[in-house]
Amino acid sequence: MNESDKRIAAMAAIEEVRAGMIVGLGTGSTAAFAITALGERRLDIRAVATSKASEAMARAAGIPLIDFPAQIDLTIDGADEIDPTLAAIKGAGGAMLREKIVAAASTRMIVIADGSKRVDAIGNAPVPVEVLPFGIAFVSARLADLGAHVTVRKDFVTDQGNAIIDCVFPATIDHMRLSQNIAAIPGALGHGLFLTEVSAAYIADRGVVTRLERRVASD
Ligand code: A5P
Repeated sequence: MNESDKRIAAMAAIEEVRAGMIVGLGTGSTAAFAITALGERRLDIRAVATSKASEAMARAAGIPLIDFPAQIDLTIDGADEIDPTLAAIKGAGGAMLREKIVAAASTRMIVIADGSKRVDAIGNAPVPVEVLPFGIAFVSARLADLGAHVTVRKDFVTDQGNAIIDCVFPATIDHMRLSQNIAAIPGALGHGLFLTEVSAAYIADRGVVTRLERRVASD
């Protein structure tokens, strides 16, 4: 992981932010660069944070925060893995439940990352699943039925007061189906597969930023 690459990916992405926008602020070390840089730009924006940590960072950077509205113009967030189709795995920092809601509400969702996050196909990083503590044993068993090797994240509580189960699935698994199957488990509140949400990615590798855009199917 390269801190300078994280920073330049963030700097490139914030060029898309315009005055008047409602901006979704991601979570993690790469998103932190975007939050700080956005604060320095002093644009007339309002923001929604995807975690308590990002909320505190936005406050410190002087970015006005609002309650989560139904629609967000642009969200900038990190990822643990991202592939050429812009499918991503998120949630190493445990914020993927709010990140997913904010991404889904966003007209445009941009991932920023250093080159270490770029993969040919997602699936090596664990898929985190946020779970109601009451249901940990049940949800773990259901996830194992779906093929996961499950580990309850130690000494970790999400911003919502829940637990996280990190799941390693076979690399060849059908992620679209898996995403639906996890979402259907009672007690599983959210997961880190972002298969359709990401509109674009700015990935920096040894000082060079590449922008990838989601291909829109044309008929
Ligand atoms: C937070 O829960 C995650 O989804 C992060 O966005 C992701 O883990 C990337 O974090 P870094 O930018 O710190 O690698």
